[in-house]
Amino acid sequence: MRYTETGFDLEVDLTKGNIERVATSQELTGRYLGGQGTAAQILWDRVPPEVDPLSPNNLLIFSAGLLDGAPVPGANRTSISTISPQSNLYINSGLGGFFGPELKQAGYDKIVIRGKSDNLVYLWIHNNKVEIRDAGHLQGKNALETAALIRQELKDPMIQVAAIGLAGENRVFQASIEHANSSASRGVGVVMGDKRLKAIAVRGSRDIPVARPAELFERCNRQYGDVYDNPHCGDVFLKEADDSWHVSHLGWRNPPNGFWSEETTRELAVRVERDHMSYQWENYSQEMEEVHETIVEKSEIVRGTGCFNCPKNCHLVVSLPGERIYFLKNYSRLAYAMAAYPDLKLNYDVLSAMQNYGLDEFAIPQVVDFVVTLLQAGILTDADLPEFPADSSGRFLYLLEKIARREGVGDALANGLYQAARTIGKGAEAYERSAKKIEQLPVRLQEANYPHFLMYAVGDKMNITQIEGSFPQIPIPDRKEREAFVAQWDAAPERFKKWFLDWEPGEQLSIEAAVNIVDWNEAMHFSDEALGICPFLSSFRGQYGGHPSYHLHNLPTYISLATGEELDAEGLEAIAKRTRLLVRAINVRRGLRSSEDKVPQELWENRNPELEQQHLDAYYAFKGWTPEGIPTRETLVSAGLEYVSRDFAARGILTDN
Ligand code: MTE
Ligand code: MTE
Repeated sequence: MRYTETGFDLEVDLTKGNIERVATSQELTGRYLGGQGTAAQILWDRVPPEVDPLSPNNLLIFSAGLLDGAPVPGANRTSISTISPQSNLYINSGLGGFFGPELKQAGYDKIVIRGKSDNLVYLWIHNNKVEIRDAGHLQGKNALETAALIRQELKDPMIQVAAIGLAGENRVFQASIEHANSSASRGVGVVMGDKRLKAIAVRGSRDIPVARPAELFERCNRQYGDVYDNPHCGDVFLKEADDSWHVSHLGWRNPPNGFWSEETTRELAVRVERDHMSYQWENYSQEMEEVHETIVEKSEIVRGTGCFNCPKNCHLVVSLPGERIYFLKNYSRLAYAMAAYPDLKLNYDVLSAMQNYGLDEFAIPQVVDFVVTLLQAGILTDADLPEFPADSSGRFLYLLEKIARREGVGDALANGLYQAARTIGKGAEAYERSAKKIEQLPVRLQEANYPHFLMYAVGDKMNITQIEGSFPQIPIPDRKEREAFVAQWDAAPERFKKWFLDWEPGEQLSIEAAVNIVDWNEAMHFSDEALGICPFLSSFRGQYGGHPSYHLHNLPTYISLATGEELDAEGLEAIAKRTRLLVRAINVRRGLRSSEDKVPQELWENRNPELEQQHLDAYYAFKGWTPEGIPTRETLVSAGLEYVSRDFAARGILTDN
């Protein structure tokens, strides 16, 4: 008997129209748990490096976290893994909401999609009944409309739908997959669109058995209360007008080029910069507070919504006086939102427009900024942008449409900035900023933070999300406050507490500390992704008050009670590290080397290339990788990945075998 996981994957071949229910190996679960872990193994096994991301042989894998559907609070995430046409590397994106638990209740841990359909289709999964259905009538609809139409058509309001918008249909590289209030955002929608798969609709009515129900329920009930009461869990910023945390911890400011500052925020940007340098953000923060109050306090919160079995409401539906209803998500006031604050209307118009097209809201503002900068530099001209509006909002919406439809200049932009700059030419490359060919947030860390540098440089999720991590991002100036922080920091190993205690403002952490912090953050991140746990309850939250509801030490208890398999913190860490290594191996096999482990020049001020290289060298050595960034045979074998080392040897990637 297998507990918590169903033991079956759904294999769908869209070229042949073939659907199979395939039993999975329990041994694989033991090695990788679920979610991203087992999906990465499938990609390693079945998508060799020769496979083009936009060929029928690329796989798109929707994988529910191992604990999804069990009573574990906040375990609801679905990991979506594939090879990205933008970077030609592994990409993992995820969504919360209700999709993963529903999939489990329908009797599957994963949906593995290969091939390409000739016409637009959607997949309908209802327990044992699985169909590929025509989606011609859904063409051009946004994800929420698509979900509503499918529910109507199938006469069941409880169906869970993950869908692409127009951008995904048109194979825009920055397309998202949207579900309920959640979104797998960083460019997996393009592969779904390329397969001509508009949506997946799921409805399940089975129970998900757990190994030790009484003990698990007792424990989960307590945990539900802890998450509910824990001020450091959930989206801690959403309802607070005071956004000083983001301002002081990350060097958020306007994108490097000129769009926002030109039109709206020159002064604001200067202020951010000034206040940042000195850590005196109070004035700035107060102004932000006042602006934010317009939305949060003066507007009516229509409702708060959350994800499956989570007591937190990280998504708000708000109604601004005299405006239509807006959907405010946890990230809504991050980087670009901050830059756009003086123009609230613009901010919320572009947010909802991006959501409607199904576009990554981290990537697109940078694309818009890039275009305006090229225009100012004379690289793009009026002829490239016929009838380009003069105002910010008009420009943004104009470009959104061009990108989503791949019209005119939008066709190049829809391949991502890296490729667009090379298509446009005439020196456009100089204005393009990406990491591993994917747009990253315009986070400018003015004072170097080397754990961030490392996470940015070696991150495999292709998203700065990973840099949040469990370790505070700036030191607390007052030692007494540091001591109080450390006293209740139950998630952290002792040496981390000491590093934090000794960390004075203006000083750098040691290289040893930086490398260990990154390794720890990675272990937490890969555990979350395998289990389906939201890091707003775990890995991101250690940095606020040291008391995240989940961490490496208590997660094994939930896993053991749910699955019946004994696991301790060491075992969980070993699994997370194995997955991290496997993901690296997939990328190494696709050509990733240390020369690509870098951050864009402009994303980091006060650069010290020598110190950066020392950190990278120390990280590779710590991980057991060569200076080229390739895991050694010894490292692979000791992590149980001998088959990877054999593959590397056969391909001449490793010669030490
Ligand atoms: N959960 C996992 N496992 N992995 C992640 O990268 N990202 C967090 C949070 N939960 C993340 C995660 C961040 S930064 C955000 S903004 C929200 O998920 C996004 O929620 P959604 O994916 O449901 O839209
Ligand atoms: N884009 C859309 N359309 N919707 C979103 O919710 N969330 C942003 C960004 N882009 C978001 C989005 C946030 S907060 C994060 S951390 C990343 O996408 C999450 O990337 P992932 O979904 O690929 O993990």
